[in-house]
Amino acid sequence: MSLKDQLNPDRIPTHVAVIMDGNGRWAKKRGFLRAIGHENGVGALRKTATTAAELGVKYLTVYAFSSENWNRPKSEVNALMSLLVGSLKKELKTLTDNKIRLNAIGNLESLPPKCQKELVEVIAKTKDNDHMTLTLALSYGSKEEIVEAVKGIATKVSTGKLKVQDINDDTVSQHLFTSDMPDPDLLIRTSGELRISNFMLWQIAYSELVFTDSLWPDFNEEDFYKAVLDYQGRERRFGKISEQINS
Ligand code: FPP
Repeated sequence: MSLKDQLNPDRIPTHVAVIMDGNGRWAKKRGFLRAIGHENGVGALRKTATTAAELGVKYLTVYAFSSENWNRPKSEVNALMSLLVGSLKKELKTLTDNKIRLNAIGNLESLPPKCQKELVEVIAKTKDNDHMTLTLALSYGSKEEIVEAVKGIATKVSTGKLKVQDINDDTVSQHLFTSDMPDPDLLIRTSGELRISNFMLWQIAYSELVFTDSLWPDFNEEDFYKAVLDYQGRERRFGKISEQINS
């Protein structure tokens, strides 16, 4: 039986988050510039988004550029920003054909104006697509996101709009970039690295984690099915015991 046929259609994760890692190593192995690795990463993202949408995943959130990635050589940062603009233009049809809504989270004001403009346009053009939401995390850092949330909450307290005793988990969630989506059920990281790297630290509190050795440009449908199968084989207890979950 194929991997796809082994999937339980009633237990498809609602939200899948992906740390797309290994573009640089993929390129190095072939004697290419790192930018070529990123270009091939776009293909893997297209494949993953269409596969996820086809399976019925409702939210796919991918780490495309971290706050720390600004520290990479200028040439690589520029290549990534040009790739982002070019890909947004080229992939509008893929998004429309698959009824995928584009969304972006992160410190978006720090992106070059061209990227911001293209993002705003594609987000507006895909806003009514209701099959799946693809969120690009761009200039994103989870600690920064939490700090901003704390500042927002503190401001509401200091201006009398919120009482300290009313602050709870939901208050924090509602002040994050991801306030309009459920937390990820499954987080996938490629390239064999076993780290979270400042990605959605609050939101992945109860996510199932799947690490795969594939370098991101090589990540394909079969790898995605494998990750979902792995997820479906886990028992999510959310701190309870097995008998409580199964009763
Ligand atoms: C990590 O690989 C990947 C990135 C920092 C960029 C991810 C970007 C893409 C997949 C391009 C597609 C996305 C858009 C939105 C254009 P790495 O460079 O850290 O790899 P390494 O660890 O092997 O060096």
